[in-house]
Amino acid sequence: MVLERAADALTIDAPAKINLALHVVGRRADGYHLLESLAVFTQLGDRITVEPASSDRFAVTGPFADAVPPGDGNLVLAARDQLRAAFPQRPCGPVSIRLDKNLPVASGIGGGSSDAAATLRALNSFWQLAVSDLDLAKLGLGLGADLPMCFAAKPLIAGGIGDNIEPLADFPSLHMVLVNPGVPVATPDVFRALASRDNPGLPPLPARPSAGAVIEWLNQTRNDLEIPAKALAPGIGEALLALNDAGARFARMSGSGASCFGLFGDAVRTAEAAEPIRRQHPQWFVAATQSGGAPADGAS
Ligand code: C5P
Repeated sequence: MVLERAADALTIDAPAKINLALHVVGRRADGYHLLESLAVFTQLGDRITVEPASSDRFAVTGPFADAVPPGDGNLVLAARDQLRAAFPQRPCGPVSIRLDKNLPVASGIGGGSSDAAATLRALNSFWQLAVSDLDLAKLGLGLGADLPMCFAAKPLIAGGIGDNIEPLADFPSLHMVLVNPGVPVATPDVFRALASRDNPGLPPLPARPSAGAVIEWLNQTRNDLEIPAKALAPGIGEALLALNDAGARFARMSGSGASCFGLFGDAVRTAEAAEPIRRQHPQWFVAATQSGGAPADGAS
């Protein structure tokens, strides 16, 4: 997460979360599912800017601004209110927050959770609260199961309901095209439609993996939510087909969908692959980007 300061304003990136693999391995008594997921975060993302104001303000800009819920249900405002409520003795004064919404909403790439995580981080700094990362992530868990993952915003393995985070050192950066066929998918509906909830966990990761080794590993993994999500939103199958037709070395749905990713060898091939998909599907969200990690080498 980049933190930029300009005069009194502070800007933080809220990257997209891509579940490269997502295994559903059980279910808790409260209905939440136990997961094992490998997630990475992309350069492409939303942005949160906070600055002083005489009263609280919230504005949304960007290509997906219209899809953001304005009041209740907005995770940015929920994050602001939750942080303020947790520190009633501290001077958490009025703040103007701008969300630049570049990612499609309800689309399996953690946009709302990532926005909330970035808001917590930005306001922790803006209000000089000095809350530790661990405590901020715990505070944010109430806003969504994905929040601790988005708070880490680095290649990681997530366990539990997505809240046990194990960061991965030495994970390669990956070039990818993100495609969203424009159908919002409700996460609870997808979980509800799962045929099996007790599936095998992730296989062990290769030590010091290259991009090629990651793809070999991915071929032994799954996104268990892909089959139920495809049944609810057939556009997902079309998006995967388009990525494969464009020459993806590997393509899969992220999270509970409907966004899909395709992995490509380098930045040029990624940009070239995005073009025809964009042309053939002008209504879809199509973006060429790169995940964070060690520099993408384009090798193997
Ligand atoms: O916590 P969050 O709001 O992200 O989750 C949305 C819904 O997705 C939950 O209410 C639950 O139905 C489902 N979910 C789940 N198991 C998880 C995460 C989410 O069943 N690990």
